[in-house]
Amino acid sequence: MPRSIASLFLTLGLFLANAGASGAQGAAHAPGHSQESKRPNFVFILTDDQDLHLNSLDYMPNLQRLIGDEGTVFERHFCTIAVCCPSRVSLMTGKLAHNTNVTDVTPPYGGYPKFVSEGHNDNYLPIWLQDAGYNTYYTGKFLNSHSTSNYNNPYPKGWNGTDFLMDPSTYSYWNSTFQSNHDAPVVSDGYSTDLISNYALNFIEKAQGSDKPFFIGIAPIAPHAQTAAVEGSSIPAFTDPVPAARHANKFPNAKVPRGENFNPDTPSGASWVLDLPQLNSSEVTYLDEYYRRRLQSLQAVDELVEGVVTKLEHYGLLDNTYIFYTSDNGYHVGQHRMVPGKGCPYEEDINVPMMVRGPRVPKGRTVDFVTSHTDIAATLFDLAGIPLREDFDGLPMPLTSSEMQDAKDDPRREHVSVEYWGTNLQEGSIGRTSPTGPGVVYGNNTYKAMRVIGDSYNLFYSVWCTNEHELYDLTNDPYQMRNLFTKSKSKLLGRDIKQVISRLDALLLVLKSCKSSECTLPWQVLHPDKKVTSLSEALNPKYDAFYAAQPDISFSACELGYFPESEGPQEGYAYRQNGDWSYWA
Ligand SMILES: *[C@@H]1O[C@H](CO)[C@@H](O)[C@H](O)[C@H]1NC(C)=O
Ligand SMILES: *[C@@H]1O[C@H](CO)[C@@H](O)[C@H](O)[C@H]1NC(C)=O
Ligand SMILES: *[C@@H]1O[C@H](CO)[C@@H](O)[C@H](O)[C@H]1NC(C)=O
Ligand SMILES: *[C@@H]1O[C@H](CO)[C@@H](O)[C@H](O)[C@H]1NC(C)=O
Ligand SMILES: *[C@@H]1O[C@H](CO)[C@@H](O)[C@H](O)[C@H]1NC(C)=O
Repeated sequence: MPRSIASLFLTLGLFLANAGASGAQGAAHAPGHSQESKRPNFVFILTDDQDLHLNSLDYMPNLQRLIGDEGTVFERHFCTIAVCCPSRVSLMTGKLAHNTNVTDVTPPYGGYPKFVSEGHNDNYLPIWLQDAGYNTYYTGKFLNSHSTSNYNNPYPKGWNGTDFLMDPSTYSYWNSTFQSNHDAPVVSDGYSTDLISNYALNFIEKAQGSDKPFFIGIAPIAPHAQTAAVEGSSIPAFTDPVPAARHANKFPNAKVPRGENFNPDTPSGASWVLDLPQLNSSEVTYLDEYYRRRLQSLQAVDELVEGVVTKLEHYGLLDNTYIFYTSDNGYHVGQHRMVPGKGCPYEEDINVPMMVRGPRVPKGRTVDFVTSHTDIAATLFDLAGIPLREDFDGLPMPLTSSEMQDAKDDPRREHVSVEYWGTNLQEGSIGRTSPTGPGVVYGNNTYKAMRVIGDSYNLFYSVWCTNEHELYDLTNDPYQMRNLFTKSKSKLLGRDIKQVISRLDALLLVLKSCKSSECTLPWQVLHPDKKVTSLSEALNPKYDAFYAAQPDISFSACELGYFPESEGPQEGYAYRQNGDWSYWA
């Protein structure tokens, strides 16, 4: 149970009175005071488009040493929408994108203006943290379409200090535009990640001088593609990420891991992915070069991590600070024949890096229960002792040894839902992306998907707006190459595949439009008597007729934004005590 804010302030007040003599530097270490004495600080490092599956973390030794080895690695952490701005809005509101309705990177369906018009600028993480007594700071990329023309109309609320990267030059690794606090934007003359690192260190200095705990968001652009405006086009050119000069020659032999789904001989996936031609040898050579540029660009981030940890240590803050390291979404380079990009429901795009170190977080541990970006706001609330909001769609991440133990059997850690609306952009300067230059866009990239992971299963299920369905058994097919949806004669989990699909379809029906606890306890919507809490329990043959009766998920159009009326049935049946069923509500 979170302690009340009043008692926290009381504790804090007494503590500060005692600690006064030892000065700010010793505050976190003051003898005789447990870490409970002062609420923890948060440093949240958010990279842009960083993969987990292409092994980018292996090339970041400081991160491994200072966060991974000193904390816990969450190897099944997922974003719930695999594109920057919507994912960041979910991070900062604790809600799934269908509940924020910020579903794209630009207006009318997304971007900073949509974040503002949906009211989130008045109701999101930094404001909530400030209300609870935190000082809040942010540097780097905030949201797409936050630009030199709208940065002050209105300013992002809730921050005590900001040094934002600004569109249209957010993704220029050099000479990008920064905008600090309420000052006018200024064109910088340095390397983006190094500038962000300096801003972050300044914030630590500023924050340590205050009695209040702090949150510092640090959002470098690496390893995102570099972009530049193209005259006459609304889509910029996406070229290779640009490393700092000191890292430009690193890893000359690194290549994209050649997993089974890398440029396969047989097409895979659904919708536009299934139609892609195989990449030729010069295209594959380019993908490896692009991949190296990503790894090189991450080296400055690895240095940033070391700088931040060193600075926290210098001020005696390290023991009372949670450091989170993650990425807004994952990335693919050549998987399923795709050129560089994100936005797909496949593992490379949705399963993202996540490492946490901090008070009571086990060191050197790796855990495999499901967590997601929609859990982050709830996690910070929990750690700060703030009562959780009713409208959170996620749950606090288990961060102590005993919470991690409990999570293994917690049905709320069995699933994650992932959604997307609109088009898919091809990145990198690869010939195939367009006859006229980079920036080809594929339509029909609207879908609802989920991962369901239990002791005896590891499944992926998706329904696309084209009404194509995918079912992958990742235990036997980790690269998502064999779609079982159409294999109606097969068995899965000891049942006819059709029975498994009926359960998955009903689960996704709940998740695709869920709100708050429905998103964490979806089986309770289907089984209000709480007799079914997991896929394995739902597979009991006694429920076959019930699941057969559920409406199937289907789309009536491929929309560019969230229009529930195009997303098929919104409601299904709930199993009632007498073995009968009726509508959810
Ligand atoms: C940060 O902003 C909040 C809200 O405006 C304010 O109460 C607090 O005093 C500020 N902290 C500092 C260090 O200025
Ligand atoms: C940055 O801007 C300066 C001044 O306009 C220019 O000389 C320099 O070439 C630019 N650097 C890069 C890497 O584009
Ligand atoms: C590969 O395809 C691109 C165009 O998509 C073409 O320019 C290039 O010459 C091809 N390379 C080879 C080795 O066929
Ligand atoms: C979307 O899918 C439909 C078929 O479901 C197809 O007719 C249409 O051409 C596709 N549109 C795009 C932009 O790929
Ligand atoms: C989401 O936003 C779009 C664009 O503003 C709007 O047209 C749509 O109705 C919204 N959807 C919902 C469910 O509110």
